[in-house]
Amino acid sequence: MDIRRVCVVGGGTMGNGIAHVFAQKGFEVVLVEAKKELADKALATIAKNMDRQIAKGALGAGDKDAALRRLRGASSIAEAKGFHFAVEAVPERLDIKTAVFRELDAHGAAGAILATNTSSLPITKIAAAVKDPSRVIGMHFMNPVPVMKLVEIVRGQQTSDATTTATKELAVQLGKIPAVANDSPGFVSNRVLMPMINEAIACLHEGVSTKEDIDAIMKLGMAHPMGPIQLADYIGLDVCLAIMEVLDKGFGGVKYKPSGLLRQMVADGKLGVKTGAGFYEYPKK
Ligand code: CAA
Repeated sequence: MDIRRVCVVGGGTMGNGIAHVFAQKGFEVVLVEAKKELADKALATIAKNMDRQIAKGALGAGDKDAALRRLRGASSIAEAKGFHFAVEAVPERLDIKTAVFRELDAHGAAGAILATNTSSLPITKIAAAVKDPSRVIGMHFMNPVPVMKLVEIVRGQQTSDATTTATKELAVQLGKIPAVANDSPGFVSNRVLMPMINEAIACLHEGVSTKEDIDAIMKLGMAHPMGPIQLADYIGLDVCLAIMEVLDKGFGGVKYKPSGLLRQMVADGKLGVKTGAGFYEYPKK
């Protein structure tokens, strides 16, 4: 199928970034949120992020206008009826995601591919919600989506080779580099990344070092763009905890136990950048 019409479900940080790159690369995009106002808010964020790209010379003003013309906000998946490709980026709860997939199954064009941006839930379980699980795949973008090159493509147990090939080709059309993983807790990205972040938080909890020095050690010593504590705040501490819980449940053992301090921060509602405070403070600009 020639993929031209795309439905993105969810307009949060990941969803708006995903809609942004599809529209920028010439696809017709419907961004679906629970309410029209939320979809409009996501479109405003996309316009703001495109302005950042214009300021850096990475995008022309005319290209922004053309991309925004290809983007439409909606409050139901039915409004995107006939789409060729969908990416779901709603909260990380299996019940919410399966409900979205049932809707996507009802409204896509025949043969449409249904992708999930889940960072840790099993693709195979999400795929069980639709009639043809061979057309369901993980398309795991990294934050910030317009900037990060990787798309982790995750094959469920029944994902077909044709679906995998088409999704990889699509990632390349978006200017990304696809890398494939099988459906296993945390896939590759978060199975490797999250224990590092969790260990950094454990070092802080045990008084091994300060947050600033832990971040400096990893940033300057290992050439990471951000230190692990700062990155945890950026990703969201609730997201980090949810992923550690998936790893703990999937593999067991000491290695994947979420740090007590991470649990405490989430219980206190300090979730990082998005709540204005996490390990660091983020005063409103
Ligand atoms: N939209 C468009 N452009 C954006 C952007 C956005 N949302 N956010 C940043 N940018 C652009 C900036 O305009 C800037 O462009 P130039 O390179 O052309 O100058 C560039 O990105 C760098 O941004 P800044 O100058 O503002 O700041 P920085 O140099 O400190 O970089 C960063 C910011 C790109 C976030 C960098 O710190 C970084 O790469 N951090 C690590 C991010 C990371 O690890 N992401 C993966 C998280 S894990 C995940 O997402 C998966 C999961 O399942 C949890």
